[in-house]
Amino acid sequence: MSVAPRSLQKILVTGGAGFIGSHLVRHLVAEGRQVVVLDDLSSGRLERLHDLDGRFVFHAGDVRDLDGIQGVVEDCEAVVHLAAEPSVKKSVDDPFHTHSINYGGTLAVAEAARLAGGRKIIFASSAAVYGSARAGVAEGDPVIPLSPYGLDKLASEQLLRIYGSLYQLPSVSLRFFNVYGPGQDPHSPYSGVISKFVQGALSGKGITIFGDGLQTRDYVSVHDLTRVVSHFLTSQPSEEAVFNVARGEGTTLLDLHRLLTQRIGDEIPIQFAPARSGDIRESVADVSALCKAVGWIPETRLEEGLGSVVLAHH
Ligand code: NAD
Ligand code: UD1
Repeated sequence: MSVAPRSLQKILVTGGAGFIGSHLVRHLVAEGRQVVVLDDLSSGRLERLHDLDGRFVFHAGDVRDLDGIQGVVEDCEAVVHLAAEPSVKKSVDDPFHTHSINYGGTLAVAEAARLAGGRKIIFASSAAVYGSARAGVAEGDPVIPLSPYGLDKLASEQLLRIYGSLYQLPSVSLRFFNVYGPGQDPHSPYSGVISKFVQGALSGKGITIFGDGLQTRDYVSVHDLTRVVSHFLTSQPSEEAVFNVARGEGTTLLDLHRLLTQRIGDEIPIQFAPARSGDIRESVADVSALCKAVGWIPETRLEEGLGSVVLAHH
């Protein structure tokens, strides 16, 4: 077990009972940090953390409740802010609800950190801020979100930038591309595509592709992602405060279907349905800034990572 540096030992993870959050909490505990989780359990589940019995502190609460979170933020040295409604499609169906959580939550966390005299914030932003960009999109490229979800992530990044210049609040916004791994819930119509495809493949029901299946995504393993987040907790980048977190490789949905077919060894039926509105066509990152800051880029190949998702479903 590696031991975290003395600084930033006590970390608050908002949304820590969610898919990414639960992997991150486990990783930070293994590093020897004290971890505090704030989650309203709207989609998160504490069973995800059952193996960590008693090795983290849990607060049930809504991240938008400034009074409620103030003491929790004050008690920690840094915040990884993950709590959000993560579905792009849900934000198109219910933009008011998404905005309240995804922007309102960031505002409350930033304000609590300011009132506490300054706490470092690592923010879970998204590739969705770019909209349909060229493949190999870099942090300095234009940001033209196509969905309320993408807009709220961009607004949150801008809010943190402003808090940095007005109040010297340190923050890093990490633009996660498509994160996948064991424990991603496949049961909602809003669930991430890899969890849906694996469930559809293993149940024999098959998969649904919205659109022609040629849209690309840059899939990053949650295990690699947690290592990146931990890196930024420990080190403050000197200039840039926004980074893509991805592998820098595009995979179409039809490629994903082919990889899963190879993995499972059975034909997986496909049903095509109309493309979702607000959906991005091309989403592939330039990861050179990440590589420069962290010294490596997420290494798990999709074939390998898919294998661990398939195994976890058995
Ligand atoms: P998730 O839904 O599994 O986790 C979100 C967690 O936040 C859940 O535990 C939920 O209960 C909690 N939550 C929601 N609203 C809350 C509120 N008002 N107060 C307190 N807790 C609340 O989603 P995830 O996939 O783990 O995503 C985590 C973060 O990463 C989100 O901010 C998401 O936008 C971002 N992100 C995810 C991906 C991805 O591919 N999964 C990619 C880019 C960015
Ligand atoms: C995902 C994340 C979002 C993140 C973004 C970063 C989820 C739910 N969404 O959004 O939080 O900010 O990546 O890039 O984790 N699709 C199908 N069939 C399905 C499900 C999806 O064809 O059963 C398609 C979608 O239309 C889309 C692609 O697969 O074209 C990916 O969809 P999804 O997994 O929902 O992710 P994003 O919308 O990219």
